[in-house]
Amino acid sequence: MSASAPIVTIDGPSGSGKGTISRAVAHRAGWHLLDSGALYRLVALAGAEQKLELDDVEGHARLAAAMDVRFGTEFDGERVLLGGRDVTEAIRTEAMGQGASRVAAWPAVRHALLERQRAFAEPPGLVADGRDMGTVVFPQAPLKIFLTASPAERARRRYNQLKQKGSGASLSALSREIAERDARDSSRAVAPLVPAADATVIDSTALSIEAVIERVIELGRRRALWA
Ligand code: DC
Repeated sequence: MSASAPIVTIDGPSGSGKGTISRAVAHRAGWHLLDSGALYRLVALAGAEQKLELDDVEGHARLAAAMDVRFGTEFDGERVLLGGRDVTEAIRTEAMGQGASRVAAWPAVRHALLERQRAFAEPPGLVADGRDMGTVVFPQAPLKIFLTASPAERARRRYNQLKQKGSGASLSALSREIAERDARDSSRAVAPLVPAADATVIDSTALSIEAVIERVIELGRRRALWA
């Protein structure tokens, strides 16, 4: 890890708006972005493609350590490549979200991804989006945000996202899935979803995306992370 790269961590449950906020803050600051959830989704996808048993911890940990991943802005926008194949959409399904949440509960998988994640900390700086960015992966980060929103609001956002993409979904099924994923992510023994002791908690339920971005930018300014 580059000692000179400052890090802002943005953790929180699914649907809290972390992805959008992290991307916007990284863009405003001209910093790198780590979407750590994508790494867990890639492990789930690679495991499914190799037809690994759902409880094959060793097999998934091996994939986590060895998979050939590239994040890039080639083509149009942000793409995710696995073994050179574009899997940007394939990892975004609800099934991969659930799969990621399951493999993420295994310490061997988390361990295999730790250094991969830390390698993203390069100058001029890194915005790291995930569940344990501030607690485990980058505990030294000078600014830690814990972004949350009510479960109903998070289900509603996810519903609108899916609708925009043209995939059908029922709001009640999504609410159930979000509650399940929250419970699993928050109750696991290793790196559970909890705010770091020194994190600033932002509840985005009643805030616009722009308002949240401004809060984070202002907090970074106060810490002299950017102008
Ligand atoms: O942020 P996301 O929905 O793409 O993440 C998918 C799953 O991966 C999430 O349910 C829990 C897991 N995850 C994790 O355990 N730790 C992270 N730093 C990021 C994601």
